[in-house]
Amino acid sequence: MEVLSKLLAGTLNSITSKCLVLFVTVLILRALLFPSIPGFGGIEWNNIVYIRTPILNSDIGIRQDKFLVVPQLVWGLNNQKIAFARACLTARMLNRTLLMPSLSASLFYKEIDLLQPISFEKIFQFEKFNTLCHGFVRLGRHSDVLNRTEVLEMEKGSGRRWTVERDLSQLKEYSRGSFDDYEVIRIVGKNPFLWHDHWPVKDYANVFECLDLTEEIAKEADRVVSRIRAVGREITGNTEAVEVHNRMTNDGSSFQPLPFVAVHMRIEIDWMIHCKNLERRLNTNQICSGKKEIVERVKNIAGLKTPVVVYLAVADKLLNNSSILDGWEEGFLPFEKKKLGVDGIYKKYPYLIQSAIDYEVCLRADTFVGNSFSTFSSLIVLERTQKMIRMNATNLCGENVRWPSYAYNIPGESNGPMRWVTNMAESNLLSISYGTNHISC
Ligand SMILES: *[C@@H]1O[C@H](CO)[C@@H](O)[C@H](O)[C@H]1NC(C)=O
Ligand SMILES: *[C@@H]1O[C@H](CO)[C@@H](O)[C@H](O)[C@H]1NC(C)=O
Ligand SMILES: *[C@@H]1O[C@H](CO)[C@@H](O)[C@H](O)[C@H]1NC(C)=O
Ligand SMILES: *[C@@H]1O[C@H](CO)[C@@H](O)[C@H](O)[C@H]1NC(C)=O
Ligand SMILES: *[C@@H]1O[C@H](CO)[C@@H](O)[C@H](O)[C@H]1NC(C)=O
Repeated sequence: MEVLSKLLAGTLNSITSKCLVLFVTVLILRALLFPSIPGFGGIEWNNIVYIRTPILNSDIGIRQDKFLVVPQLVWGLNNQKIAFARACLTARMLNRTLLMPSLSASLFYKEIDLLQPISFEKIFQFEKFNTLCHGFVRLGRHSDVLNRTEVLEMEKGSGRRWTVERDLSQLKEYSRGSFDDYEVIRIVGKNPFLWHDHWPVKDYANVFECLDLTEEIAKEADRVVSRIRAVGREITGNTEAVEVHNRMTNDGSSFQPLPFVAVHMRIEIDWMIHCKNLERRLNTNQICSGKKEIVERVKNIAGLKTPVVVYLAVADKLLNNSSILDGWEEGFLPFEKKKLGVDGIYKKYPYLIQSAIDYEVCLRADTFVGNSFSTFSSLIVLERTQKMIRMNATNLCGENVRWPSYAYNIPGESNGPMRWVTNMAESNLLSISYGTNHISC
């Protein structure tokens, strides 16, 4: 610092310039001693270039002595993930810790008694969640509550007259005054997936990023991904090259495993009925791609190197249907769980965990192809987009990006599928959670 002062002082030799030097020195010192000024950590969350590090600043934390309780999360994995994020963001708005909600292990839509509650911690890491989401949203345990008698019930309205505005003003009302004094607020009524949405897509993305699978489930996903890459090596006869490469790069860090494509193929009969109705209602023919169209579009993905393993993420009822493996062109090697020999891994678990494993496999695929009217596909693309942004990809829709995603239901260049990234600037999740063919790129 002294050297710097002299250097500057030598060239500027008046009293004012000495003041200037002092001022600059103080600024530099401050920057050196306090690289991040307390209270500024939160900016990261507003920035689209969010880096996945916890915000280590308890000043901007969520209160740990006020709690929110929400109804059990139900239906598909994607519905439950959205419901979970919505519950978190509601709790954030009320500046309360969300008590770990109960998820549903089985997939039932009507039979409430068959929903099989399963603890959040059985699927996702609790401590890790709070570390990664620190300062943004917070999860608590039911044992954290001191006074169980002091619970305020907050009834969510329903029906046409319960508008977004009314819902918002209810939330604001409950975050103030005597309502706010209650240690616990319990929301009663429909499950959070059905609540009105008041939050931008990037807030959802931030919550999703804090969700890491438990070690056990992550290991199972690893096994599936390794198996997919292994069949790729066997088939492409690349085993030796990979081994040589492994030996040469001792730490293995620069080793690129064989790429694979994951296709979330929705062609089961109940989906087809649903999407045909949707096509009629929305007056479009770009929702229900059949198998033939999907195969054709995947084949035409620009720049895809073959031979390549294609992992088909399909509904269980299609696993016994060998026709999904037929009709692929040479160079495209289709596999589903059964042909990969990993169905045993899945069978050990209830629906929710099976779905979480498949989700993870699609997330990690080098190329993902899904249906833009599927919430499952949409959430995967959202997380893949977030991953690209974190890796500083400048042109998300560019030619040679890592982890590209596509929508097979929309024609793109040269009869391939349309490139697909999530528009993180959307002001709410609605546009992606109920399907759309306005996808970015
Ligand atoms: C929550 O409340 C605490 C304590 O009153 C405050 O410091 C913090 O800024 C609030 N956080 C949010 C997200 O409103
Ligand atoms: C719990 O809350 C109730 C109602 O506000 C109050 O009467 C009671 O004294 C509280 N108990 C404790 C242990 O704070
Ligand atoms: C597939 O077929 C086998 C034998 O026919 C049967 O045991 C199994 O339950 C079927 N699986 C599914 C998912 O339909
Ligand atoms: C197999 O799936 C195709 C659609 O890909 C369907 O047309 C066919 O009816 C299915 N066969 C069986 C036995 O379920
Ligand atoms: C992304 O860019 C930021 C700022 O330039 C840098 O600090 C960070 O290390 C980069 N991340 C990656 C994964 O390249």
